[in-house]
Amino acid sequence: MPNETSSATIIDGKARSEAVMNELAPRAKSLIERGVNPHLTVILVGDDPASRVYVKSKVKACQALGVRSTVATLPADTPESALLDKIDQLNNDDSVHAILVQLPLPEGFDERRIVQRVAPGKDVDVFHPLNAGKLLLGAPGFEPCTPKGIMALLDGIGYDPAGKNAVVVGRSNIVGKPITLMLLRRNATVTICHSRTPDLGAATRQADLLIAAVGKAGLITGDMIKPGAVVIDVGVNRVEGSKKLRGDVDFDSAVKVAGAITPVPGGVGPMTIAMLMLNTLEAAESC
Ligand code: GUN
Repeated sequence: MPNETSSATIIDGKARSEAVMNELAPRAKSLIERGVNPHLTVILVGDDPASRVYVKSKVKACQALGVRSTVATLPADTPESALLDKIDQLNNDDSVHAILVQLPLPEGFDERRIVQRVAPGKDVDVFHPLNAGKLLLGAPGFEPCTPKGIMALLDGIGYDPAGKNAVVVGRSNIVGKPITLMLLRRNATVTICHSRTPDLGAATRQADLLIAAVGKAGLITGDMIKPGAVVIDVGVNRVEGSKKLRGDVDFDSAVKVAGAITPVPGGVGPMTIAMLMLNTLEAAESC
């Protein structure tokens, strides 16, 4: 039984993502050999510094696999109609297999309208209602990158969610809702908590598997974690006055209680990018 002096296994997302990338390399190579050059286009609107860093990592991952990447950079004051036209143009371009509109968009854009414009076959983010609907129904299709990365991390440590109490903190379309569906599909009993959950700690203490995806630095402290639980921290929070990234989990107190935990950085983040590469190759393979 873990106690004050015990320490969790640190789940190394960087190492696991490198292993995934190594598995993907021959898939990319065989596509290229048969004349299909997998191609991801990222649309970056405005100059959000964090988004620029994320986009750079995506481009780097493409380069590592010999996957073509294009970054379409548009100024923040681009009219929405021009952005929609750009997406239409990429939808109709047979050399482009995957399209990602980097979020958040600058204020004033109708985010839902824009991400839904991406053709379902190129929608590696799984934002289009057709793809989101398939996920809900358990039909074959793309799975969103971050939740897919979480499942790969769990599989990597041999953790089977079947029959476990999973608690997801956060109900976003990008992580909270899809990871709930994916854990349910793997036979976990899933509870979703959010800003209106009255006693968050009471809920999280029931979790054998705790997924924190709310975007609040250090929200989950050690006393809110069941001893021995597997804790997955999706948070990437920039704290004012510091260059350091902080997760949604207070790592120092959590590591003393959890059985296994992902660090920030070096946990879920690198897995998201590896899964984006996987989705890009899947999109190219099915073209
Ligand atoms: N911004 C932060 N994470 C993501 C992501 O997974 N997809 C997109 N499109 N934008 C993001």
